[in-house]
Amino acid sequence: MASLFTSILLTLCLFIIPTLSSDPDPLQDYCVGDLRASPSINGFPCKSLVSASDFFFSGLGGPLNTSNPNGVAISPANVLTFPGLNTLGLSMNNVEFAPGGVNPPHSHPRASEAGVVIEGSVFVGFLTTNNTLFSKVINAGEMFVVPRGLVHFQWNAGEGKARLITAFNSQLPGAVVLPSTLFGSVPEIPNAVLTKTFRTDDATVNNLKSKFAV
Ligand code: GLV
Ligand code: MN
Repeated sequence: MASLFTSILLTLCLFIIPTLSSDPDPLQDYCVGDLRASPSINGFPCKSLVSASDFFFSGLGGPLNTSNPNGVAISPANVLTFPGLNTLGLSMNNVEFAPGGVNPPHSHPRASEAGVVIEGSVFVGFLTTNNTLFSKVINAGEMFVVPRGLVHFQWNAGEGKARLITAFNSQLPGAVVLPSTLFGSVPEIPNAVLTKTFRTDDATVNNLKSKFAV
């Protein structure tokens, strides 16, 4: 009886353990992504010839151009921009804010996020699945975390520019940016869905759609 119980437990663990990790663990020292090949079931096939330059990336630094309606600009170092990250389960962003700029509510389906403020004062928050907001204004040198998949945002609460570096436990965390997902999708979400969802009218929904249309 005990051994039947142990086998059931071990079998369950085999199914449960992989769901506890983020990206899968690497099976070799490195596997620089060959972006010309189609992604396989998880990530890119390895490039056959690699050199030192595959493991360095200078595209993260700014200054970035933040003159856009949100006053924010992001340069990502993920597997698509830095293929050396392929299979390593890691990526980073440089996030720069104009005064008053906002990184709008979004979530990363494949990663938790950790961030550090490099410059300025930033109001950082995330929401739990029962709509509790955890938020704080943090300053240069201070860190925050966002658990995987939860909606979060940052707003430049200082007088000048602000800058964050964020890190993710996925080579490609993905981002669901709520305003553009809901109001800028192709094809559009029908107004009947959005007016009922937001308890509003067509004019309001059309106005929002016009701002997020691509
Ligand atoms: C910040 O939230 C980021 O996704 O870089
Ligand atoms: Mn984020």
